[in-house]
Amino acid sequence: MSVLALDAGTTGVTALVVDENGGVLSRGYQEFAQHYPETGWVEHIPEEIWQATLQACQTALDGTDDRPTCVGITNQRETAVLWNRKRGSSPRRAIVWQDRRTAGICAELREAGHEGRVTEVTGLRLDPYFTGTKLTWIRRNDQRAWSGVESGETAIGTVDSYVISRMTAGARHVTDASNASRTLLYDIHRGAWSEEMCDLLGVPVSALPEVVPSYGVVGETDPDEFLGLRLPIAGIAGDQQAAMFGQNCYTPGTSKCTYGTGSFVLVNTGDRPVSPEYGLLSTVLWQHPDGRLDYALEGSIFVTGAAVQWLRDGLGLIDSAAQSEGLAATVPDSGGVVFVPALTGLGAPDWDPHARGAIFGITRGTQRAHIARATLDAIAFEVRDVAESMAAASGTAIPELRVDGGASTNDLLCRIQADQLQVSVARPEVQETTALGAAFLAGLATGVWSSTDELSQTWNLDRRFEPGARDDAAHRRWRAAVERSKGWAEL
Ligand code: G3P
Repeated sequence: MSVLALDAGTTGVTALVVDENGGVLSRGYQEFAQHYPETGWVEHIPEEIWQATLQACQTALDGTDDRPTCVGITNQRETAVLWNRKRGSSPRRAIVWQDRRTAGICAELREAGHEGRVTEVTGLRLDPYFTGTKLTWIRRNDQRAWSGVESGETAIGTVDSYVISRMTAGARHVTDASNASRTLLYDIHRGAWSEEMCDLLGVPVSALPEVVPSYGVVGETDPDEFLGLRLPIAGIAGDQQAAMFGQNCYTPGTSKCTYGTGSFVLVNTGDRPVSPEYGLLSTVLWQHPDGRLDYALEGSIFVTGAAVQWLRDGLGLIDSAAQSEGLAATVPDSGGVVFVPALTGLGAPDWDPHARGAIFGITRGTQRAHIARATLDAIAFEVRDVAESMAAASGTAIPELRVDGGASTNDLLCRIQADQLQVSVARPEVQETTALGAAFLAGLATGVWSSTDELSQTWNLDRRFEPGARDDAAHRRWRAAVERSKGWAEL
C-alpha cells in the first residue's frame, strides 16, 4: 500500500509516493512563477499552482509501479485564493503570505484597539502575514473580484482549499483546522470560524470553506480533473503542522524546525492553546477525527532559505543553493559581516513589516565567502531568537531540535545551529518531512498505518549535530543589526 502526498509550497509543488515503511518510492517537483508587481507585493497565479500540482503528481506516479490508495495534501499557509465555485477559474491572483501590502490595514486595526481581542480569539497578531487582512484589501481594492464573493459565485480559501476544489471538480470546499487557524478568522478555542473576526475584517462566513479534521476522508478526486484517478482525499494540514506530524512530534514538548523559504519552529503544547507571548503565535497543530484539537506555539521566520536563493538569483554569488555551504566553509567566520535577511520584513520574534534586508560590517577585506557565511549565521541566529522566546514563553528550553526542509541538508548550517542553540540538532533520513506528514495523515485515516506509535517506528536518524562553543559576541552584533534594519521601508 502507498500514499500520494502533495506539498503545494511557496515556490513549487512536491509530490511523493510514500510506502508503508515511510520510504519515498518516487517524487515529482514543479516550480511555478512568483510575481512581484509592486515593492513588497508577492502574488501567485492559482491556475499555475494547479498545473504544477498536476505535473508534480504525474511525475511522481510515473516513477513507480505502485498505485497509491489515498492522497494527503499540505500547503503554503495563509495565502489568500479566490476562485469560481463552478468553473475553478480565479478572478484575480492569489496574495501570498509574504506579501506586505496590508501593513496599513493592520496599523489601522491596531490603532482602533483591536489587537488584544484578535490575539485572544485567533492566537495570532495583526500582521500582513495572515489571510484575513489580505481579504480586506481585496474587498476594498478589487471590487470586480469581490462582487463574486458577495453574490456567492466565488469561493475563498487557502491553497489547500483551492487544490481540493480543483481535484474534486468543485464538489468540495473544505479546509482543515490547522489551515483555518492561520486566517485571522478562526476561533482557536471554539474550533470554528469567528463571526466577530469575520465582521471586523469584512469577510462573509458563507464564502469560507467548511472546516474539517486534519485526517479522515473528506471527498474523492474526480478522474476527469485529476490524472484519471479516483482517490480518497484523507489528510490535510498546513505545511508546518504537517512537518510536525512527519517528524513524529505527537507529544507535548516535542519540536521541529523546517528550513524552507522561511523557517518555522513549532513546539507541541498539547490539547490547550498557550497564550502567545514573546512574539510567538498560538496555533492549531491538527484536529483529530473526533473533533479534538491539539495546539502548538510557533515562531514564524519569513526569510531563511529565500536568503540563500537571493544570493543565487539576486546577487549571482553562487550557482546553486547547495554551493552556499562549500563557499561559506572556505572562511572560519563571517569576518564581522552581519546579514539581516528581512527581505519581506521581519516575522517572529521582532514582527516589523517595515524592516528591510541589510548587510553590515563590510570592509575592504570582505569576500563573497563572508557574505555566504553571514547568510548561514543569520538563519541560525533567527532560529536561536525564536527558540529563546519559546523557552521564555513555556518556561522550559527545547531539549532537542528536529530539523527538516531543503537547507537542513547543509551540514555547516546544522553545526552552526547546534552551537547557537546549545542543544543537539537531529536530522532524519527523510528531509521532505512536510510531504511525509501529509502522507502520514492520509494513511492514518485509511488504515495504511494504525497509530502514531506505528508511525514513530518509521523515523530514522540521518545525523545528529552536538553543540560546540557558541559565539555570543556574533549574536550580539546580529541583534544590533536587526534593530538597525527596523522601520526602513517607512523612512
Ligand atoms: O506560513 C508560511 C509557510 O506555510 C510557507 O512555508 O515551506 O513554503 O516556506 P514554505
